[in-house]
Amino acid sequence: MLEEILRRRKKSVKVAVLTGAGISAESGIPTFRGEDGLWKRYRPEELATPEAFARDPALVWEWYDWRRQIIARSRPNPAHITLAEMEDFLPNFTLITQNVDGLHQAAGSRKVLELHGNIWRVRCVREGIVTENREVPLKEIPPRCKCGALLRPDVVWFGEPLPQDVLEKAFKAAEECEIMLVIGTSAVVQPAASIPLAALRRGAVVMEINPHETPLSPYVTETMRGKAGETLPSLWERWKSVIGS
Ligand code: OAD
Repeated sequence: MLEEILRRRKKSVKVAVLTGAGISAESGIPTFRGEDGLWKRYRPEELATPEAFARDPALVWEWYDWRRQIIARSRPNPAHITLAEMEDFLPNFTLITQNVDGLHQAAGSRKVLELHGNIWRVRCVREGIVTENREVPLKEIPPRCKCGALLRPDVVWFGEPLPQDVLEKAFKAAEECEIMLVIGTSAVVQPAASIPLAALRRGAVVMEINPHETPLSPYVTETMRGKAGETLPSLWERWKSVIGS
């Protein structure tokens, strides 16, 4: 089915990709769930909610500063690089990520729909102004805006809505795509987990790349049980041989 679509549609094939923390695992960034996941060691409600930030902004920032240090040392892996190449090659390609690490952009992806924000941006809690901040480690914890108010990471915390415009674009891409790749996500956090379901409802071929079973696995068209950095580059080589140059 997949090969047939690629042969027929060639470079015009509409592809959407949803990525999660698992795509950055091979870059050395911890995932959230699973054996070594962050949520095994930390409680999300103490670190990743507006209430936690109101209670103890320094504690929340210590945790984000630690994560920023890990991410700053990491490099995009072959899976990130393959997705950047796919964007260059396919005119109808949309990359949607739940990750806040910025590794897709570091790999060369230009258009990235970031559902959960970006850890390299900060937002003034008073003025709402968003700025880039790449200071590692932070000199001041918690960091403050020039206006004196606290800065917060420009990420989405539990209980907060996702950026509406980004979410709309993501669902539109899912509904219009012919093939969707779902890479390295446990597919349990909503609304992101519903994006592949929207693609399936519209008849897209949905492929999951994940070493482990997820709640989405029974519904997808095809599953590739392996690491993203190994599986995706070889999948893309096969696609290119069908599409042609
Ligand atoms: P999770 O940590 O929940 O899931 C990571 C997934 O990646 C798991 O299904 C793993 O099996 C898989 N995985 C691990 N190593 C992999 C590899 N090398 N290649 C491919 N897959 C691999 O991460 P997310 O699904 O992204 O939200 O989590 C969703 C959201 O929950 C995050 O964006 C974050 C978190 O709380 C917020 O911070 C708002």
